[in-house]
Amino acid sequence: MYKKIQETASWLKERMTTSPKTAIILGTGLGQLASEITDSYAFSYKDIPNFPVSTVEGHAGRLIFGKLGGKDIMAMEGRFHYYEGYTMKEVTFPERVMYELGIETLFVSNAAGGMNPEFGIGDLMVITDHINFFPEHPLHGPNFPTGPRFPDMHQPYDCKLIALADELAKEKNLKLQHGVYVGVQGPTFETPAEYRMFRTIGGDAVGMSTVPEVIVARHCGIKVFGMSIITDLGGFDTPVQVSHEEVQQAANAAQPKMTEIMRAMIQRS
Ligand code: HPA
Repeated sequence: MYKKIQETASWLKERMTTSPKTAIILGTGLGQLASEITDSYAFSYKDIPNFPVSTVEGHAGRLIFGKLGGKDIMAMEGRFHYYEGYTMKEVTFPERVMYELGIETLFVSNAAGGMNPEFGIGDLMVITDHINFFPEHPLHGPNFPTGPRFPDMHQPYDCKLIALADELAKEKNLKLQHGVYVGVQGPTFETPAEYRMFRTIGGDAVGMSTVPEVIVARHCGIKVFGMSIITDLGGFDTPVQVSHEEVQQAANAAQPKMTEIMRAMIQRS
């Protein structure tokens, strides 16, 4: 696996004309940020050696390089979800490659179901912590030399970046929620009892991504900032139906706010 990662990193380095230190994973319905990248060049996942290929609707599958908020960045347009059938090593392959390319900070976005009764659809939630509910751990197996066998996780999401998000939100008069993201395998949305359970164990939102990528990024010493768009609500008195289309729609509606915060954060961090 390590050889494959290095092979992919070398292939990219030979073709890269910039040296980004910041990476962004653009989650569901956050394509707008991609369109704001200037001086850009991109590689389709299918053309990058050893890269998995994204299959889910709404995820284009490109690695984009360019400038955002005045900074050199790389962005993943489309990510690899465990529910698509990838192993955890495949899901987190891009973060391993990011480390080899010299990435120091990772911005992650996703769509998530809200369980905190204070939340509403369309809210943005800064991820302050997570609960790993995936059935396979991304660091299972021989340890990679990028980090210790038993990595510390006392602060997976960088507190300085969280403070910066709060400062920017105040300046821009945007409301930000904060909470714990529960990462689950999917592809089913939760039953009412599952939403209630995740709320009981300390979750504020639940989604099918992010946690594996964050664990591997932290194992590589990459700083992480994560934000969820609350696209649906679960676990309350009356169970409500959730659909992928609804999730996409809510994510699209909230994306100008998310884009504004992320752009400013990249600029200032
Ligand atoms: N559950 C899991 N994943 C999700 C949800 C949800 O309610 N909403 C968006 N992604």
